[in-house]
Amino acid sequence: MRLDTRRAGFSLEAPFYTDPNLFNLDMQAIFGQHWVFACSVAEIPEPGDYVTLDYGPYSLIVLHNDDGGVNVLHNVCRHRGARVLTDPQGTTGNLVCGYHSWTYSPEGDLIHASAPGEMTFDKSCYALKRAHGKIAAGLVFICLAEEPPTDFHETAKIFEPYIGPHELGKTKVAYQQNIVEEGNWKLVMENNRECYHCDGHPELACSLFPTWGLTDETIPPHLEDVWERNQQAQASLEYRCRRYGLPYEVVEELDTRVGGIRISRESLDGAGESFSADGRRLSKKLLGDLPDFRLGRCSMHLQPNSWFHLLGDHVITFGAYPINAHQTLVRTTWLVADDAVEGVDYDLETLTHTWKQTNLQDKAFVELCQQGAASPFYEQGPYMKSEYQVEAFINWYVTRMREHIG
Ligand code: FES
Ligand SMILES: [Fe+2]
Repeated sequence: MRLDTRRAGFSLEAPFYTDPNLFNLDMQAIFGQHWVFACSVAEIPEPGDYVTLDYGPYSLIVLHNDDGGVNVLHNVCRHRGARVLTDPQGTTGNLVCGYHSWTYSPEGDLIHASAPGEMTFDKSCYALKRAHGKIAAGLVFICLAEEPPTDFHETAKIFEPYIGPHELGKTKVAYQQNIVEEGNWKLVMENNRECYHCDGHPELACSLFPTWGLTDETIPPHLEDVWERNQQAQASLEYRCRRYGLPYEVVEELDTRVGGIRISRESLDGAGESFSADGRRLSKKLLGDLPDFRLGRCSMHLQPNSWFHLLGDHVITFGAYPINAHQTLVRTTWLVADDAVEGVDYDLETLTHTWKQTNLQDKAFVELCQQGAASPFYEQGPYMKSEYQVEAFINWYVTRMREHIG
């Protein structure tokens, strides 16, 4: 392993994308230690609602509790280790293991073991193990470390003013897509941190300016017109945001804090409302108390596993959940106003079209890289200027791994 001699500005050495031992280390050092995006409150709207979440060797239950918070429980029965809940989501009172019916309260306490006359052990020693859970601006995060990184509340303080006005607590899930990408989780995240490849996204290019990560100096000639249009649209978006009191400034701390974040509000092409062919709204219902559909996209990246687009009419959340060294589950969830009616206020196919296509294109790109990393002739390649956020992600990762190894 070559963490100490990492060549800045270059992709990682192949084993970081292919080696099962390094994958296990990633699971301990990154997914076992840091705040991981789990779901939004729209996925668990009522007390008793839960989702189960698997990544690497871990399986978690994220349960909406009676206090409006979340209980995060390891989904590992304290009898003989069976998965307690097996559905990806549902509603439950007590949690009953399907193997021998050990029964746990929503807090994870063992309240019943159906072995007559044999309850000689101390039940309080066999509660489901708990992890940390936090809700911020309607997004649910979990952390498996005994002592989670302490700067997360600062990260939340950064994103709450941007995301709060979209009021995720008043949204519902319109659609959820789970795809398995044949690629290491870091390749999934790297791919998402740049738009150098955005020529490969014809549907997205209708509304998303393909100038992301570029500057006046780095803009290629074929994008000069788009750049000009983008600048004008951005100026008018910022004018509206100032009028409405909505933050839009870029905050970029992807590798300068443990809870790495990038957030901004950026203009969309065309009508500037949503991810449609002409940039017009995809749902007729505005989210929360937003004053206008023309709010571009509020986009957020969080290390290590999530990114988000928040628009006036809908929100899309993305979570990457590693399966093994060469496979990653990517979960995309479309949220609309909770009073929006399918077929009346939005058409599900049209709402989801752009990002369903984009996700499939990204999956193909990631898989091409994974195949390359497996070749004995793979060598680390240089990140371009427009890929500075990829470098920031890798820098964040390498720093965290070094800290973990000590
Ligand atoms: S393994 Fe869960 S009750 Fe036996
Ligand atoms: Fe992409």
